Amino acid sequence: MKNIILIGFMGVGKGSVAREVIKHSNYIAIDTDDLIESMENRKIKNIFEQDGEKYFRNIEHNISLWLEKSVKNTLISTGGGFYKVENLKKIGTIVLLDSPFDEIIKRIKAHPNATKKLKKRPLLNDMKKAKKLYDERRPEYLKLADIVVDVTNKSAKECTKEILKKVKK
Ligand code: S3P
Repeated sequence: MKNIILIGFMGVGKGSVAREVIKHSNYIAIDTDDLIESMENRKIKNIFEQDGEKYFRNIEHNISLWLEKSVKNTLISTGGGFYKVENLKKIGTIVLLDSPFDEIIKRIKAHPNATKKLKKRPLLNDMKKAKKLYDERRPEYLKLADIVVDVTNKSAKECTKEILKKVKK
């Protein structure tokens, strides 16, 4: 089984989809943001505030090397900027969870923990900047993806079915 790497913009639902995929398959799941938080023993928000984005990206880079070398049969969910690592293609099959910017924001705001979800993501502090980042990244996400799943108005379960079907092909 090749690794599956979930990429996509902040808040698109990578974590929820990852949790659903492992319920219906034999993949083990890891999340690059969770790994970073446990390696650093602090929240991403604090890493950004205390050491800056460059420091964070460097940890992502180190994790990408480890994933390529040492991780197999795994569903890897990533932070929204992780796709920039140089070796992404070598890590596994890249699955993009795709949705329009407004739909992603609507979805985060509808969540019972919306305030927390917005607060923990430093790059969503300023909506204008976040939209700009989305517009820059979306073509890059599409270019890298082996599989694109439009997640708009779909449950994590529906997305999972689609992913597992497409990965098997
Ligand atoms: C980031 C996305 C975040 C987290 C960090 C940076 C980004 O992960 O890695 O705040 O650059 O898009 P999520 O996509 O899980 O929110």
